[in-house]
Amino acid sequence: MRDPKRVAILISGRGSNMRALVEQAEVYEVALIASNKPEALGLEWARSRGLSTWELESKGIEKEAFDRQLSAALDDHSVGTIALAGFMRILSPWFIDEWRGRIVNIHPSLLPKYRGLDTHARAIAAAEPVSGCSVHLVTEELDAGEVLGQTQVPILPTDDVQSLEQRVLAEEHRLYPKVLSEFVTR
Ligand code: GRF
Repeated sequence: MRDPKRVAILISGRGSNMRALVEQAEVYEVALIASNKPEALGLEWARSRGLSTWELESKGIEKEAFDRQLSAALDDHSVGTIALAGFMRILSPWFIDEWRGRIVNIHPSLLPKYRGLDTHARAIAAAEPVSGCSVHLVTEELDAGEVLGQTQVPILPTDDVQSLEQRVLAEEHRLYPKVLSEFVTR
């Protein structure tokens, strides 16, 4: 049984958004931390917290075959909502259809602006006065699903990519748990 309040967090790296989601979990329960990179730093932290983890190196496995194994692991834990948090892998159309409407992601820009990578550098280069972060539904089109929540962050004349990233990341850690809490009950 897929329970919307049982959340899986998918990571590939350091997992700072994962930590924020775990530490601010009240409305939802973090049922599984899954990664396509066994060496992801966030996995160590998750294990140290006694959370259930699943990992499988995605390199060398056909995309849908990986996604079918991932999907089975999610079902083993009765997951009903999937939160991508620095998951650096495009999901297969099969997986997106199987979990349609149940996958969310955090993106470091004010979508629909700056989909894809290098968002901060692109926003600074375009002399944007403001940037921010967005939580959105995941669909087949990259970073293009319904926006569920956003926070704006001003771009200062003194900002470089690192300083802007740091301030946006701090807002991601506030926004994501809040939006996810609303999402699992909607
Ligand atoms: C964050 O900037 C997030 O917006 C993007 O990937 C980064 C992940 O960082 N999707 P972390 O692993 O959560 O620290």
